[in-house]
Amino acid sequence: MKIQDDMPRLGFGTYGRQGEDGISAMLAALQAGYRHLDTAQTYDTEGEVGTALRRSGLARGDIFLTTKISTDNYGEGCLIPSLRRSLETLQVDQVNLTLLHWPSPHGKQALETYLVQLLEAQDLGLTRYIGVSNFTIALLEEAEAIAGPGRIVNNQIELNPLMQNKKLSDYCGRKGIQVTCYQPIAQGRLAGQPVLEEIAQRHAASVEQVALAFELAKGYAAIPTSSRAERIRSNFAAREIALTAEDIERIEAIDRNERAIDPSWGPDWD
Ligand SMILES: NC(=O)c1ccc[n+]([C@@H]2O[C@H](COP(=O)([O-])OP(=O)(O)OC[C@H]3O[C@@H](n4cnc5c(N)ncnc54)[C@H](OP(=O)(O)O)[C@@H]3O)[C@@H](O)[C@H]2O)c1
Repeated sequence: MKIQDDMPRLGFGTYGRQGEDGISAMLAALQAGYRHLDTAQTYDTEGEVGTALRRSGLARGDIFLTTKISTDNYGEGCLIPSLRRSLETLQVDQVNLTLLHWPSPHGKQALETYLVQLLEAQDLGLTRYIGVSNFTIALLEEAEAIAGPGRIVNNQIELNPLMQNKKLSDYCGRKGIQVTCYQPIAQGRLAGQPVLEEIAQRHAASVEQVALAFELAKGYAAIPTSSRAERIRSNFAAREIALTAEDIERIEAIDRNERAIDPSWGPDWD
């Protein structure tokens, strides 16, 4: 099956959702209808995700789980044991999607060293799909040269109406690589943006819902998070908003290409 037909496109981000409060937020998300949870080795929420899944009573097959390999685990012989530890913490036999969280900082590890281990993890059945995060076009091309076409099926990148990452998302679209938007509601910074406010008012929606509806209409997946049940539910209800072609065009025009996550050790962005 293609990831596009398998991964629920509105997922729940779990960065910051630690401890009992985090588990409650995840349970609220599952109750609201989210069936896709996004975690990472560095978030320290894999345990909470496992607990929430168990407490929810939902069947494993009903949930799409994504985790990401920390760049600390890219060394020869390290990636697969780290993914096995993640599976144990998550209390599952397989995750649906495993991503390389970032390109190796300062190119410390060669891409081939860690990508080959990810391919092997997939061959071992530890993960159904594999992908990357924060990869540029040049890095995606390098990855394809190593892995062969069609193996890397997802790129998780910063994307919201103020940071539309157009060059990279267009490239992913042409290559059939599913884009997942992180910071899809710009961490609450969308309030007051006049075009979004006007569209939101017309649809009796919030600007966050309009942002998520825009990302879904563009064919992307999005993984907003919140600590509050009411926002968790209202973000999920963005699926019901049908933007017009004109709304989408107007939102496309407000792109500021304003990147929030830009570590000094990150790649040279497109
Ligand atoms: N791959 C990567 O490198 C990477 C990087 C960053 C994030 N991520 C993933 O993407 C997920 C989402 O990104 P993010 O957490 O940085 O940003 P986000 O989802 O865009 O924003 C979350 C923030 O917005 C607030 N918020 C949520 N719903 C709201 C609403 N309806 N109205 C107003 N404010 C609202 C939340 O505060 P309250 O809790 O107070 O509601 C929270 O502070 C993360 O959880 C993580 O899974 C991945």
